[in-house]
Amino acid sequence: MSRRAVLAATAAAAGAAALPTAAQPAPTTRHRVAIVTGSSRGIGAATAKRLARDGHAVTVNCVANRELAAGVVRDIERAGGRAIWVQADVSDPRAVQRLFDENERAFGGVDVVVSNAGVMRLAPFRDMSDEDFARMMDVNQKGSFQVLREAARRVRDGGRIVTLSSSITQLRTGTYGPYAATKAAQEIYAAILAKELEGRMVSVNALAPGVVNTTLFTDGKTPQQIAGFAQRTPHKRLGEPGDIADVIAGLCSRDGAWINGQTVFANGGIV
Ligand SMILES: NC(=O)c1ccc[n+]([C@@H]2O[C@H](COP(=O)([O-])OP(=O)(O)OC[C@H]3O[C@@H](n4cnc5c(N)ncnc54)[C@H](OP(=O)(O)O)[C@@H]3O)[C@@H](O)[C@H]2O)c1
Repeated sequence: MSRRAVLAATAAAAGAAALPTAAQPAPTTRHRVAIVTGSSRGIGAATAKRLARDGHAVTVNCVANRELAAGVVRDIERAGGRAIWVQADVSDPRAVQRLFDENERAFGGVDVVVSNAGVMRLAPFRDMSDEDFARMMDVNQKGSFQVLREAARRVRDGGRIVTLSSSITQLRTGTYGPYAATKAAQEIYAAILAKELEGRMVSVNALAPGVVNTTLFTDGKTPQQIAGFAQRTPHKRLGEPGDIADVIAGLCSRDGAWINGQTVFANGGIV
Protein backbone atom coordinates (compact mmCIF):
# COMPACT_ATOMS: atom_id res chain seq x y z
CA MET A 1 0.00 0.00 0.00
CA SER A 2 1.33 3.46 -0.86
CA ARG A 3 1.99 5.95 1.94
CA ARG A 4 -0.90 8.11 0.70
CA ALA A 5 -3.30 5.12 0.79
CA VAL A 6 -2.19 4.21 4.33
CA LEU A 7 -2.78 7.79 5.50
CA ALA A 8 -6.24 7.86 3.86
CA ALA A 9 -7.20 4.52 5.43
CA THR A 10 -6.00 5.70 8.86
CA ALA A 11 -7.95 8.96 8.59
CA ALA A 12 -11.11 7.10 7.52
CA ALA A 13 -10.80 4.70 10.46
CA ALA A 14 -10.31 7.60 12.90
CA GLY A 15 -13.36 9.40 11.48
CA ALA A 16 -15.51 6.28 11.69
CA ALA A 17 -14.54 5.74 15.31
CA ALA A 18 -15.84 9.19 16.23
CA LEU A 19 -19.34 8.48 14.90
CA PRO A 20 -22.15 6.79 16.83
CA THR A 21 -22.51 3.17 15.68
CA ALA A 22 -24.92 0.35 16.41
CA ALA A 23 -22.56 -0.77 19.19
CA GLN A 24 -22.15 2.79 20.46
CA PRO A 25 -25.62 4.27 19.81
CA ALA A 26 -26.67 7.89 19.72
CA PRO A 27 -26.95 9.53 23.16
CA THR A 28 -30.29 9.35 24.99
CA THR A 29 -32.65 12.32 24.84
CA ARG A 30 -31.21 13.64 28.14
CA HIS A 31 -29.49 17.01 27.64
CA ARG A 32 -30.26 17.06 23.94
CA VAL A 33 -31.41 20.25 22.22
CA ALA A 34 -34.44 20.64 19.96
CA ILE A 35 -35.75 23.39 17.68
CA VAL A 36 -39.47 23.13 16.84
CA THR A 37 -40.70 25.63 14.24
CA GLY A 38 -44.27 26.89 14.60
CA SER A 39 -44.50 25.85 18.25
CA SER A 40 -46.55 28.70 19.73
CA ARG A 41 -49.69 26.57 19.39
CA GLY A 42 -51.18 23.40 17.91
CA ILE A 43 -49.01 20.39 17.07
CA GLY A 44 -45.78 22.39 17.46
CA ALA A 45 -46.59 23.53 21.01
CA ALA A 46 -47.51 19.98 22.06
CA THR A 47 -44.28 18.71 20.48
CA ALA A 48 -42.11 21.34 22.18
CA LYS A 49 -43.61 20.46 25.58
CA ARG A 50 -43.27 16.72 24.98
CA LEU A 51 -39.63 16.97 23.86
CA ALA A 52 -38.91 19.13 26.92
CA ARG A 53 -40.50 16.46 29.12
CA ASP A 54 -38.19 13.93 27.45
CA GLY A 55 -35.18 15.97 28.54
CA HIS A 56 -34.52 18.28 25.59
CA ALA A 57 -33.74 21.95 25.94
CA VAL A 58 -36.17 23.47 23.44
CA THR A 59 -36.24 26.52 21.18
CA VAL A 60 -39.85 27.50 20.58
CA ASN A 61 -40.70 29.49 17.45
CA CYS A 62 -43.57 31.69 16.27
CA VAL A 63 -44.16 34.13 13.45
CA ALA A 64 -46.75 36.42 15.10
CA ASN A 65 -48.09 35.08 18.41
CA ARG A 66 -45.25 36.09 20.73
CA GLU A 67 -47.42 35.82 23.86
CA LEU A 68 -48.36 32.24 23.00
CA ALA A 69 -44.70 31.33 22.37
CA ALA A 70 -43.71 32.89 25.70
CA GLY A 71 -46.52 30.88 27.35
CA VAL A 72 -45.15 27.61 25.94
CA VAL A 73 -41.72 28.51 27.36
CA ARG A 74 -43.28 29.31 30.76
CA ASP A 75 -45.11 25.96 30.76
CA ILE A 76 -41.86 24.12 29.99
CA GLU A 77 -39.95 26.00 32.70
CA ARG A 78 -42.70 25.42 35.27
CA ALA A 79 -42.37 21.69 34.57
CA GLY A 80 -38.61 21.92 35.27
CA GLY A 81 -37.39 22.14 31.65
CA ARG A 82 -35.29 24.64 29.71
CA ALA A 83 -36.60 26.66 26.76
CA ILE A 84 -36.33 29.95 24.89
CA TRP A 85 -38.61 31.41 22.22
CA VAL A 86 -37.60 33.12 18.99
CA GLN A 87 -39.88 35.03 16.64
CA ALA A 88 -38.76 34.13 13.11
CA ASP A 89 -40.66 33.77 9.84
CA VAL A 90 -39.45 30.51 8.28
CA SER A 91 -40.10 31.92 4.80
CA ASP A 92 -37.23 34.41 5.39
CA PRO A 93 -33.83 32.68 5.05
CA ARG A 94 -32.05 35.19 7.30
CA ALA A 95 -34.69 34.71 10.00
CA VAL A 96 -34.14 30.95 9.85
CA GLN A 97 -30.40 31.43 10.34
CA ARG A 98 -31.09 33.74 13.28
CA LEU A 99 -33.41 31.11 14.79
CA PHE A 100 -30.59 28.55 14.71
CA ASP A 101 -28.02 31.13 15.91
CA GLU A 102 -30.12 32.10 18.92
CA ASN A 103 -30.69 28.44 19.75
CA GLU A 104 -26.94 27.85 19.55
CA ARG A 105 -26.19 30.85 21.78
CA ALA A 106 -28.62 29.58 24.40
CA PHE A 107 -27.95 25.84 24.29
CA GLY A 108 -24.67 25.31 22.40
CA GLY A 109 -25.95 23.30 19.40
CA VAL A 110 -28.87 21.30 18.07
CA ASP A 111 -29.72 17.58 18.01
CA VAL A 112 -33.36 17.59 16.93
CA VAL A 113 -35.12 19.81 14.38
CA VAL A 114 -38.87 19.56 13.83
CA SER A 115 -39.94 21.53 10.76
CA ASN A 116 -43.55 22.02 11.75
CA ALA A 117 -44.52 25.62 10.87
CA GLY A 118 -47.21 25.56 8.23
CA VAL A 119 -50.24 27.35 6.81
CA MET A 120 -53.25 26.03 4.93
CA ARG A 121 -55.53 27.85 2.50
CA LEU A 122 -58.29 25.84 0.84
CA ALA A 123 -60.12 26.50 -2.42
CA PRO A 124 -60.90 24.63 -5.60
CA PHE A 125 -58.37 25.24 -8.36
CA ARG A 126 -60.66 27.68 -10.15
CA ASP A 127 -60.93 29.93 -7.07
CA MET A 128 -57.45 29.70 -5.51
CA SER A 129 -55.91 33.20 -5.28
CA ASP A 130 -52.30 33.97 -6.21
CA GLU A 131 -51.73 35.30 -2.68
CA ASP A 132 -52.93 32.15 -0.93
CA PHE A 133 -51.01 29.90 -3.30
CA ALA A 134 -47.84 31.97 -2.81
CA ARG A 135 -48.13 32.00 1.00
CA MET A 136 -48.38 28.20 1.16
CA MET A 137 -45.38 27.86 -1.14
CA ASP A 138 -43.41 30.44 0.87
CA VAL A 139 -44.07 28.96 4.31
CA ASN A 140 -44.61 25.25 3.69
CA GLN A 141 -42.39 24.46 0.74
CA LYS A 142 -39.67 27.16 0.72
CA GLY A 143 -39.76 27.77 4.50
CA SER A 144 -39.43 24.12 5.37
CA PHE A 145 -36.63 23.74 2.82
CA GLN A 146 -34.77 26.58 4.53
CA VAL A 147 -35.25 24.97 7.95
CA LEU A 148 -34.09 21.57 6.65
CA ARG A 149 -31.08 23.16 4.90
CA GLU A 150 -30.01 24.77 8.16
CA ALA A 151 -30.67 21.48 9.99
CA ALA A 152 -28.48 19.63 7.45
CA ARG A 153 -25.67 22.07 8.21
CA ARG A 154 -25.97 22.11 11.98
CA VAL A 155 -27.62 18.99 13.48
CA ARG A 156 -25.08 17.05 15.51
CA ASP A 157 -24.22 13.43 14.75
CA GLY A 158 -26.84 11.04 16.10
CA GLY A 159 -29.54 13.71 15.65
CA ARG A 160 -33.08 13.62 14.32
CA ILE A 161 -34.92 15.71 11.74
CA VAL A 162 -38.70 15.50 11.32
CA THR A 163 -40.74 17.48 8.80
CA LEU A 164 -44.51 17.72 8.81
CA SER A 165 -46.33 16.29 5.82
CA SER A 166 -50.05 15.46 5.93
CA SER A 167 -52.23 12.42 5.24
CA ILE A 168 -53.97 14.66 2.68
CA THR A 169 -51.22 13.48 0.30
CA GLN A 170 -53.15 10.16 0.33
CA LEU A 171 -56.72 11.41 1.00
CA ARG A 172 -56.54 13.90 -1.92
CA THR A 173 -59.75 15.71 -0.95
CA GLY A 174 -61.04 18.50 -3.25
CA THR A 175 -59.90 22.08 -2.38
CA TYR A 176 -56.64 20.79 -0.83
CA GLY A 177 -54.59 20.71 -4.10
CA PRO A 178 -51.80 23.30 -3.58
CA TYR A 179 -51.62 22.63 0.18
CA ALA A 180 -51.29 18.88 -0.41
CA ALA A 181 -48.55 19.54 -2.97
CA THR A 182 -46.52 21.51 -0.40
CA LYS A 183 -46.93 18.61 2.04
CA ALA A 184 -45.94 15.97 -0.53
CA ALA A 185 -42.71 17.94 -0.94
CA GLN A 186 -41.86 17.16 2.71
CA GLU A 187 -41.92 13.43 1.96
CA ILE A 188 -39.40 13.91 -0.85
CA TYR A 189 -37.26 16.26 1.26
CA ALA A 190 -37.05 13.69 4.08
CA ALA A 191 -36.24 10.72 1.86
CA ILE A 192 -33.44 12.54 0.04
CA LEU A 193 -31.97 14.38 3.02
CA ALA A 194 -31.79 11.08 4.92
CA LYS A 195 -29.49 9.75 2.18
CA GLU A 196 -27.39 12.92 2.03
CA LEU A 197 -26.63 12.66 5.76
CA GLU A 198 -25.29 9.12 5.45
CA GLY A 199 -22.68 7.99 7.94
CA ARG A 200 -23.71 10.47 10.65
CA MET A 201 -26.46 8.44 12.36
CA VAL A 202 -28.92 11.30 11.73
CA SER A 203 -32.42 9.98 10.98
CA VAL A 204 -34.71 12.15 8.84
CA ASN A 205 -38.42 11.45 8.39
CA ALA A 206 -41.66 13.04 7.29
CA LEU A 207 -44.56 12.75 9.71
CA ALA A 208 -48.03 12.84 8.14
CA PRO A 209 -50.88 13.55 10.58
CA GLY A 210 -54.51 13.08 9.64
CA VAL A 211 -57.17 15.47 10.91
CA VAL A 212 -55.94 17.15 14.08
CA ASN A 213 -57.92 19.42 16.35
CA THR A 214 -56.11 22.73 15.76
CA THR A 215 -57.23 26.00 14.21
CA LEU A 216 -55.36 25.10 11.01
CA PHE A 217 -57.89 22.31 10.52
CA THR A 218 -61.04 23.73 12.14
CA ASP A 219 -60.94 27.34 10.82
CA GLY A 220 -63.45 27.86 8.02
CA LYS A 221 -65.22 24.52 8.58
CA THR A 222 -68.72 24.06 9.96
CA PRO A 223 -69.25 21.83 13.05
CA GLN A 224 -70.95 19.35 10.70
CA GLN A 225 -67.92 19.22 8.39
CA ILE A 226 -65.59 18.71 11.36
CA ALA A 227 -67.81 15.94 12.75
CA GLY A 228 -67.86 14.37 9.29
CA PHE A 229 -64.05 14.13 9.24
CA ALA A 230 -64.05 12.69 12.79
CA GLN A 231 -66.56 10.02 11.71
CA ARG A 232 -64.24 8.95 8.89
CA THR A 233 -61.57 7.75 11.35
CA PRO A 234 -61.98 4.25 12.84
CA HIS A 235 -61.48 5.84 16.29
CA LYS A 236 -64.38 8.25 15.61
CA ARG A 237 -62.58 11.34 16.79
CA LEU A 238 -60.14 13.99 15.55
CA GLY A 239 -56.52 13.58 16.46
CA GLU A 240 -55.30 15.83 19.26
CA PRO A 241 -51.95 17.67 19.07
CA GLY A 242 -50.63 15.36 21.81
CA ASP A 243 -51.31 12.28 19.63
CA ILE A 244 -48.93 13.68 17.02
CA ALA A 245 -46.37 14.91 19.56
CA ASP A 246 -46.15 11.37 20.98
CA VAL A 247 -45.22 9.95 17.57
CA ILE A 248 -42.70 12.72 16.87
CA ALA A 249 -41.14 12.10 20.29
CA GLY A 250 -40.79 8.42 19.41
CA LEU A 251 -38.99 9.25 16.16
CA CYS A 252 -36.71 11.62 18.05
CA SER A 253 -35.90 9.12 20.80
CA ARG A 254 -33.10 6.57 20.75
CA ASP A 255 -35.75 3.96 19.82
CA GLY A 256 -36.55 5.87 16.62
CA ALA A 257 -33.06 5.59 15.10
CA TRP A 258 -33.83 2.85 12.60
CA ILE A 259 -36.78 4.68 11.03
CA ASN A 260 -35.00 6.78 8.44
CA GLY A 261 -36.04 8.36 5.13
CA GLN A 262 -39.67 7.35 5.65
CA THR A 263 -43.07 8.98 5.72
CA VAL A 264 -44.80 7.96 8.94
CA PHE A 265 -48.59 8.26 8.82
CA ALA A 266 -50.15 9.10 12.20
CA ASN A 267 -53.82 9.54 11.44
CA GLY A 268 -55.90 7.14 13.56
CA GLY A 269 -56.54 5.06 10.47
CA ILE A 270 -58.42 7.63 8.34
CA VAL A 271 -56.41 6.49 5.32
N1 LIG B 1 -54.00 20.23 12.03
C1 LIG B 1 -54.05 19.27 11.12
O1 LIG B 1 -55.09 18.63 10.89
C2 LIG B 1 -52.80 18.90 10.34
C3 LIG B 1 -52.86 17.74 9.56
C4 LIG B 1 -51.74 17.37 8.83
C5 LIG B 1 -50.59 18.14 8.88
N2 LIG B 1 -50.56 19.26 9.64
C6 LIG B 1 -49.32 20.05 9.63
O2 LIG B 1 -48.84 20.17 10.95
C7 LIG B 1 -48.15 21.41 11.11
C8 LIG B 1 -48.70 22.15 12.32
O3 LIG B 1 -50.08 22.37 12.08
P1 LIG B 1 -51.08 22.87 13.22
O4 LIG B 1 -52.38 22.27 12.90
O5 LIG B 1 -50.49 22.70 14.57
O6 LIG B 1 -51.15 24.45 12.85
P2 LIG B 1 -51.57 25.72 13.73
O7 LIG B 1 -52.30 25.32 14.95
O8 LIG B 1 -52.22 26.65 12.77
O9 LIG B 1 -50.15 26.32 14.18
C9 LIG B 1 -49.29 26.78 13.20
C10 LIG B 1 -47.97 27.17 13.84
O10 LIG B 1 -47.07 27.56 12.79
C11 LIG B 1 -46.59 28.87 13.06
N3 LIG B 1 -46.31 29.53 11.79
C12 LIG B 1 -47.15 29.79 10.76
N4 LIG B 1 -46.49 30.43 9.78
C13 LIG B 1 -45.20 30.55 10.20
C14 LIG B 1 -44.04 31.12 9.63
N5 LIG B 1 -44.06 31.71 8.43
N6 LIG B 1 -42.88 31.08 10.34
C15 LIG B 1 -42.84 30.51 11.57
N7 LIG B 1 -43.92 29.96 12.15
C16 LIG B 1 -45.08 30.00 11.47
C17 LIG B 1 -47.69 29.54 13.87
O11 LIG B 1 -47.12 30.63 14.59
P3 LIG B 1 -48.06 31.87 15.09
O12 LIG B 1 -48.82 31.35 16.29
O13 LIG B 1 -47.10 32.95 15.44
O14 LIG B 1 -48.97 32.23 13.95
C18 LIG B 1 -48.09 28.37 14.76
O15 LIG B 1 -47.17 28.21 15.82
C19 LIG B 1 -48.32 22.15 9.78
O16 LIG B 1 -47.16 21.98 9.00
C20 LIG B 1 -49.50 21.46 9.12
O17 LIG B 1 -49.43 21.53 7.72
C21 LIG B 1 -51.63 19.65 10.37
